[in-house]
Amino acid sequence: MAPPPDLVDLPPGPRSSRALQTLAWATRPVPFLLRCQEQFGDAFTIRIGTEPPWAVLAHPDMVRDVFTADPEVARAGEANAILEPVLGARSVLLVDGREHLRQRRLLLPPFHGEALASYRATMREVAAAEIASWPRGAPLRTQPRMAALTLEIILRTVFGARDAQSLARLRTVLRRMLEDVATPASFLLVALLGPKRVRSVPRLRKLLEAVDREVFAAIEARRAAPDLDERDDVLSLLLRARAEDGDDLTDQELRDELVTLLVAGHETTATALSWALERLVRDPARLERLRGEAADGHSAYAQAVCREALRLRPVIPVVVRRVHAPLSAGGVELPEGATAVPCIQLVHRRPDVYPDPHRFVPERFLDTAPGTYTWFPFGGGVRRCLGASFALMEMEEVLLEVARSAELRPARDDDGEGVTRRAITLAPARGGEVVAA
Ligand code: HEM
Repeated sequence: MAPPPDLVDLPPGPRSSRALQTLAWATRPVPFLLRCQEQFGDAFTIRIGTEPPWAVLAHPDMVRDVFTADPEVARAGEANAILEPVLGARSVLLVDGREHLRQRRLLLPPFHGEALASYRATMREVAAAEIASWPRGAPLRTQPRMAALTLEIILRTVFGARDAQSLARLRTVLRRMLEDVATPASFLLVALLGPKRVRSVPRLRKLLEAVDREVFAAIEARRAAPDLDERDDVLSLLLRARAEDGDDLTDQELRDELVTLLVAGHETTATALSWALERLVRDPARLERLRGEAADGHSAYAQAVCREALRLRPVIPVVVRRVHAPLSAGGVELPEGATAVPCIQLVHRRPDVYPDPHRFVPERFLDTAPGTYTWFPFGGGVRRCLGASFALMEMEEVLLEVARSAELRPARDDDGEGVTRRAITLAPARGGEVVAA
């Protein structure tokens, strides 16, 4: 890999110090990105933390050229290395090339077709139980409630945990680890120490060892389960899967994939749901339309709401690729060693694609399918989110259940919540407050 290119070879960008840019990215990412675009156009370079300079790309043609580039040239695994201490080196998010394709082939079936459809009932059941437990008439932060809900859904559909005891054990260790790694302090630690040395920090090592113990125990128990062949949870399907060359996933690979699915699918979906509610409660007519549809057993409007919430409040603002050979992206020439950063946040707000782009208008997506390079909350190309259909189905089921069983209003009389960073996601600043009746 060539060293990061000189800034003169990259698109122009703010001249402020790396420290100031990092601070802006960490604390006010959306205004920071919008300001840069206003000043420098659809391609600009920013400098964040210890990362090589990022060439941020905000035009659909640039995004298309990055997503359709040879995956050996535009590598995502390398760019995600910061997640290694938690996910494990064999995680699908961290590998590139042939190894990545092998893992994706193994992981895709549980997230499509029949297997995916079989999770719908569990999603609905878990959502109904969670919403029934919400306090009524007092402010409630939806983000943590949605996080509990999405964790429960993953424990049942991905890990396939059924009995109360194993559910409780997994829930405890995973929650502890997830809560800890989402704190700014942990994020800073990883940034300062680098991914390789993080496991030497006693607190994090202990948390991760507890996770490993429980996850390996769950894998071992499932391998020996007499009903393994009849089960449809992701772990059971992966245990039955064979790679093309005939080799099974090792226990270490299984552990890394399970933890990856948990980390990638838990907070993201919870935050997306929390944003959807944050927008909806401030729009009584649209909330009413959703309630009407939920009562009639339809879901087209709920789907449009999910798509629009993910457009206007994408929970992940950018995706990142390390460039291993010169790459032309929509007319921008990126040298070898550059980091290409298709910007979800900015493309989703383009007025030439979305009239009145800052308004929440689910109707945009009622008759029009989202475009591959103009709507990409789940990234794109061979790295597109493996759980996108799972997440959209879960969001739809949860929103319909909320609409059926609770009446919501905003907790405060304002235009909405600001954006705050929680590790890699952008979440509602007050946790998505609502009052349920
Ligand atoms: C609203 C919820 C979600 C959002 C916004 C989201 C977003 C993303 C994004 C932006 C990427 C990177 C794509 C790229 O680099 O082009 C990604 C990758 C991934 N996501 Fe999701 N995700 C969500 C839910 C889920 C769920 C529910 C799961 C699984 C249970 C999941 C599993 C994964 C995996 C395994 C990858 C890595 C794919 C690869 O590298 O080949 N995600 N996701």
